[in-house]
Amino acid sequence: MTSENKDSDTMPDPLLIQESGEVYRNPTEVQMSQIVLPCHANHCGELSVGQLLKWMDSTACLSAERHAGCSCITASVDDIHFEHTIGVGKVVNIIAKVNRAFTSSMEVGILVTCEDLYTDRQWKVCHAFATFVARRTEAGKVQLKQVIPRTQMEQMEYSLAAERRRMRLIHAEIITDLLSSSTAQLGECQEYQDAVPAERTRVESVELVLPPHANHQVSTFGGQIMAWMENVATIAASRLCNAHPTLRSIDMFHFRGPSHIGDRLVLKAIVNNAFKHSMEVGVCAEAYQGGEPLRHINSAFMTFEVLDSDRKPCTLPRIRPEPVDGKRRFQEAIARKKIRLDRKYIISCKQTEVPLSVPWDPSNQMYLSYNNVSALKLMDNRNNWVLASEKNKVRLYTLEENHMLCFKVEMNVRVSAEQTFHLLSDLRRRKEWDRHYEECEVINQADEDDTIYRVATPSVTKGGKGKDFILLASRRKPCDSGCVDMTLLASRDNFALHFNKTLCELKCLDAQSSRDPYLIALRSVTLPTHPPTEEYTRGEVLCAGFTIWEESSSVTKITYYNQATPGVLPYISTDIAGLSSSFYSAFSACSQFLLANKDSLAALPPSAL
Ligand code: COA
Ligand code: ADP
Repeated sequence: MTSENKDSDTMPDPLLIQESGEVYRNPTEVQMSQIVLPCHANHCGELSVGQLLKWMDSTACLSAERHAGCSCITASVDDIHFEHTIGVGKVVNIIAKVNRAFTSSMEVGILVTCEDLYTDRQWKVCHAFATFVARRTEAGKVQLKQVIPRTQMEQMEYSLAAERRRMRLIHAEIITDLLSSSTAQLGECQEYQDAVPAERTRVESVELVLPPHANHQVSTFGGQIMAWMENVATIAASRLCNAHPTLRSIDMFHFRGPSHIGDRLVLKAIVNNAFKHSMEVGVCAEAYQGGEPLRHINSAFMTFEVLDSDRKPCTLPRIRPEPVDGKRRFQEAIARKKIRLDRKYIISCKQTEVPLSVPWDPSNQMYLSYNNVSALKLMDNRNNWVLASEKNKVRLYTLEENHMLCFKVEMNVRVSAEQTFHLLSDLRRRKEWDRHYEECEVINQADEDDTIYRVATPSVTKGGKGKDFILLASRRKPCDSGCVDMTLLASRDNFALHFNKTLCELKCLDAQSSRDPYLIALRSVTLPTHPPTEEYTRGEVLCAGFTIWEESSSVTKITYYNQATPGVLPYISTDIAGLSSSFYSAFSACSQFLLANKDSLAALPPSAL
């Protein structure tokens, strides 16, 4: 999984010029530039992906070590999608920086671009998020210093890193559950007449880990293992199509255990399934020393295509799986393909291009939930909100961007942040303060933190139809690791002094920027069990929700966001135009509701009810 947030890939960070005249540069940033030579390329004159993975891993590891101040190991790499191949003679530029440190682990963001020295053009090849862990010392697990985001972009990545980490840590478990439930539904494998026996694609290869493959701590470089895995996967893929395959993507993987100099690494690959234009190759890496049993180091799933002379994907032969394990992997590859497509559909779109009301199902739950939370975080991170109206310290802001209108309402309440979060999380209680919530029922408890509701609202016009919404509500508590050390905040204030006034106006130095809020994100989904009815017009919410910040133990700042869709606009347009202040009535009712229930034990999450 990569949170393929196109905004953050392409939006340049505003340059921060320090008083000394120097441009601000993230202290953990590490760059690598390499000219692609024939020795780095395959027989088609393209940079081998294995070599690229080695460069990416080294750059990212050096960035992690710069932050950690000690030696680090690659724990995992999120999904990588390669947009272009790179030819001999081009320059590869890699930039890595630590987005966030948790306890002993860090998320490192890696961006790879390709440069044509003769035309001065640059284009993006891929980006990735890798997790590095500071090596344990004799004293035990290392507690890393926190990253203090200083620019709006850094703040955004910092905030999204917590959500990506959540997804990463549940990824393996969720994929296992999904595979067992989806393959049960698929039934028997379909037999194709002229299918290629999978056996023909099987590869097994051994590598001896030598000093150049390892760091000074004698651990094998993660990038080296990835490169060896890519090598056997490419051989398996070539055996299916008898042509040169192009690697398109690698699914998220995790280094389960370390490997050291002297280990023999056994790498096994086979084509698990071939679809019309792509095939999935599975690779397994195991290590042993002497007579010791094999240790499972890593498994990866790679998607290859074969391109014709116009770079269009060719039709591939079908595969005939081997019995038992082969058939299981064949079925699981179909399930993984669906998961990949869902992910691409939901996550890789620009926020503004994600279609309204994506169909919800268990296989896309993880990505929809990620999309829901990250959309709200992105809105929360915008620093160009304009104050439209204020009444008794309840503030209404608007933001117009990319032909979209968003609004936010902000107020403080004298109720603890956690209780506020619990009270607002259960949407069924919203009718106690919001007259627009006529009916609200839970229709699916997707998991502990994600609930799907049906909400019905009254008509805005006399005699008109009411609207109903199918909403996915994703609740998040502040990330448990990575709390801010106050001495670091003080050091950031010192940093602030070294910037001129205009720079300080950027949100980058907001004291909130290295804390997480409680968060309740809402977006529309569709469910086949709840189609639109005659009685109501089906409304849609693209992105809405609350962020709840702990100002002190008893004071909480609540911000409500909504990206206005035509269905929502009539409720707020007169407020935005300054002709009414119904936002104020709703939020003072909300404040009274929270105060009345500030000590209530009934404020439990819906899953607990
Ligand atoms: N993705 C990302 N981070 C992960 C992870 C995964 N799949 N699994 C564990 N982690 C993180 C944990 O969240 C934790 O982070 P935190 O301290 O910031 O909370 C950190 O790894 C350590 O977790 P812990 O529970 O203490 O240890 P573990 O027994 O889960 O071991 C590794 C995790 C990565 C240290 C262990 O699997 C390992 O040594 N792997 C081999 C790494 C290596 O040698 N790589 C180079 C190539 S061989
Ligand atoms: P799974 O079998 O559940 O897919 P593994 O971690 O055992 O998971 O293997 C990952 C992938 O590695 C498999 O999907 C398969 O493609 C490949 N693989 C595993 N074992 C072998 C083998 N003995 N020979 C060839 N390829 C293998």
